[in-house]
Amino acid sequence: MKQLIINGNKQLSGEIKISGAKNGVVALIPAAILSDEGVTLYNVPNISDTKSLLDILDLLNCNVEYKDEVLKIDTKQLENKVIKEELAKRLRASYYFMGALLAKFNYVEIYFPGGCNIGSRPIDYHINGFKKLGAEVEIDGNKYVFKTKKLKGADIYLDFASVGATINIMLAAVKAEGKTTISNAAKEPEIVNVASFLNSMGAKITGAGTSEIKIEGVKHLKKGVIDVIPDRIEAGTYVIAGALMGKDLKISGVIEEHIEALLSKLKEMGVEIKKEKKSLIINKPKKYKPINIKTLVFPGFPTDLGQPVSVLLTQADGVSIFEETIYENRMGHIKYLQKMGANIRVNDRTAIFMGPTPLKGEEVVATDLRAGACMVLAGLTAKGTTIINEIDHILRGYENIVEKLQNAGADIRIKE
Ligand code: EPZ
Repeated sequence: MKQLIINGNKQLSGEIKISGAKNGVVALIPAAILSDEGVTLYNVPNISDTKSLLDILDLLNCNVEYKDEVLKIDTKQLENKVIKEELAKRLRASYYFMGALLAKFNYVEIYFPGGCNIGSRPIDYHINGFKKLGAEVEIDGNKYVFKTKKLKGADIYLDFASVGATINIMLAAVKAEGKTTISNAAKEPEIVNVASFLNSMGAKITGAGTSEIKIEGVKHLKKGVIDVIPDRIEAGTYVIAGALMGKDLKISGVIEEHIEALLSKLKEMGVEIKKEKKSLIINKPKKYKPINIKTLVFPGFPTDLGQPVSVLLTQADGVSIFEETIYENRMGHIKYLQKMGANIRVNDRTAIFMGPTPLKGEEVVATDLRAGACMVLAGLTAKGTTIINEIDHILRGYENIVEKLQNAGADIRIKE
C-alpha cells in the first residue's frame, strides 16, 4: 500500500502551477462522445480519474491519443456497450455517460457510479430529468437501464442546484427534439466549460453559468475543441498551503473569480494575498483571526475546500465555526486532525475549532479525496513526520502533488 510521508513545518516558496480542473475534465470526456467526428481537449490533467474515463472510452471503441496534456478523441468508431461495474464504480463521474450515451444511442446500460464516501449522494434529479426528456428507467440489480424511442425537449426544474444533474441533463438534451430549459441549474464554472465545449461542436446552449439554461436540440455534433479550465479546488488547496507555510509562494494559472469566496475568507483571517495577472502570491501571517465558514453552491464557499481549510482553522487565534451544508458526511478528516493535536468539537454538520493548536506528525488516513488534501496540508504544517495512508484517493484528483510541493520546498515523498 502506497503512503505519503511528510516531514513538516518547512517553508513553502517558489511557484506552483495549477492543472486543468478534475471536475471539468471528468464531464468533458463523456461529453466528447456526442461529437460525430472527434474532439481535442487541452490542459487535461494526468490524474487517475482521467485514466478511468479513458478506459471507458476504450471500452466504447474510441481512438484516443493523450500526450503532454492534449487529449484527442476520435469518436467515428464509437459503439454502445454496457459500462461494466468495475469501470463505473471507479469514480462518480462515470454517471455522465448516462446522459451522453442516451443522447447518442437512445439506450444505456451502466452500473452504479462510485466516488468519495461523503454522504448518500442519490442521483434522483438526474433520473427525473432523463424521464422528463422521455426516457424510461429500470434498475436491474446494480445497473441502470435507460431507453427511449426519441428524446424530446422539456422544462426541468431542479429541487437543488446539483452540478452533476445540471451537466447530465444538458448532455442528454443537446440532441433532443425541441427546446429544454433547466431551471435552478447549478452555476459552477465547470458547467460553463462543458457548455462551451458542446457549443464548439455545434450545440445551442445559452445561459450556462446562470440558474436558467436553455438548450435547443440539434441533430448532429461535429468536431469540438476546449481548454479545460484551471482547477479551482486544486488552486484553493495550494493557496491554503501558502497561508499555512508560504513565503512569497506563487500560485499561477488561477482564475481568481473562481476562488473569490476562499480569498475573501483568507483576507478576513489576516492572510496576505498579492494579485498578479493569473497568479496569487501568498504569505503566512504572524497570526490568524478566527472566522466562520458555511459551504454553499457556487459562488459560495465550495464544499470541496471545507476539509482543506480546516487546517487553517486549527491555527486561528480563537473559536472558528465551520458548517457543511452540501453533504451530510464530510467530516472524515476531523478525527485525524484531532489525533495531530487539533481541538475540534463536531455536532452533526458543524465543527467548532478552538485554536491555535500546534499540530504534530502522526499516522493518518485519507478517508476521501479532499480529506486527503486536508491531511497533506496538516502534514506540511505539523512538526515531525506525518504518514498518510490510502493515498489513492488523493491521486484521483491532484496532478503531480508530490512534485509540485517538493519544488516549493516541502519534504514530501511517496513510499511504495
Ligand atoms: C460535484 O458532485 C463534484 N463532483 C463534487 O466534487 C462536488 O463536491 C459537488 O459537485 C458540489 O460542488 C464531480 O464533479 C464529479 P451535486 P455532484 O450533484 O455533481 C444532492 C470532489 O471532491 N443530490 O451538486 O455529485 C447530493 O447528495 C467532489 O471533487 C441529490 O440529492 O454534486 C448532494 O448533497 C466530491 N440528488 C448535493 O445534492 C441528485 O440527483 C450536491 O450534489 C443529485 C444531487
